[in-house]
Amino acid sequence: MKVLNFGSLNLDYTYKVPHIVREGETIAAKEVSYNLGGKGFNQSVALARAGVPVYHAGLVGEEGLDFYDACETYGIKTNYMKTVTGRCGHTIIQVDEAGQNSIVLFGGANYKNSKEYVDEVLSNFEAQDVILLQNEINELPYIIDQAFAKGMSIILNPSPYNEKLDECDMGKVAVFILNETEGQQMTGMTTPATIVSAFDANFPNAKLMLTLGKGGCIFHHGDEELYQAAFDVQAVDTTAAGDTFTGFFIAGLLKKQPMRDILVTASKAAALAVTKPGAAASIPFMSEVELFEG
Ligand code: RIB
Repeated sequence: MKVLNFGSLNLDYTYKVPHIVREGETIAAKEVSYNLGGKGFNQSVALARAGVPVYHAGLVGEEGLDFYDACETYGIKTNYMKTVTGRCGHTIIQVDEAGQNSIVLFGGANYKNSKEYVDEVLSNFEAQDVILLQNEINELPYIIDQAFAKGMSIILNPSPYNEKLDECDMGKVAVFILNETEGQQMTGMTTPATIVSAFDANFPNAKLMLTLGKGGCIFHHGDEELYQAAFDVQAVDTTAAGDTFTGFFIAGLLKKQPMRDILVTASKAAALAVTKPGAAASIPFMSEVELFEG
């Protein structure tokens, strides 16, 4: 069984600001840093750090060549990554004094996927292989359809949520991993309990992992429902906390660990990620997670 993450690669420009800039306001940033990120890349890093061999597919622009070396360092397979002409995906991220963030995303190369490229990548995978997807690339509906037709198991992190997701056949998704805001946007419901009920009604066979930030997380599948509290840490930068959770959660699923253990490990990993600045750079190793007592 192979794991493919078909996802975004962004150059993140992170600005430390006193507060998230308001409409019409200009503020001075206290620090600026440049990091490799993107929900796709971060989740591949999290999978690798959680001990899962992962193939990353996706496109970088001409100034994104650092991603290849970084993938090698993290142990991510780049066989199916490609470089295209034009700008790489990039973001402008504000991080306030409480560690909360606000992100402007320019899709760049992440939106240059073609059906031919998708077919070429997927031709290397077969039934029972796993594909992880987020919503920072184009051709998502096509990727879902083709992966499903091959019998691959589809894990979707519908983040960031936008109307493009309405074109996807969500009935083909085996595992949803999303936060409360995305849950509200997808279902129109306003509380964790009603979001879970709506997913259960609409996608009764799918597993649902609903993260609630400091409020913990809820796993739901059929008759099984588990709540896990979040670990309390001093937040420095919440960027990639969700990506970290996603990677460690999937690692636990693939290793067929008990769900309580999976939730504890993924929650610890996400807590450790918020104590460090940056996106991929903040994702802990499994060995650090195992030592963390919370
Ligand atoms: O989830 C965090 C990521 O979201 C950042 O690395 C940024 O690239 C945005 O895509």
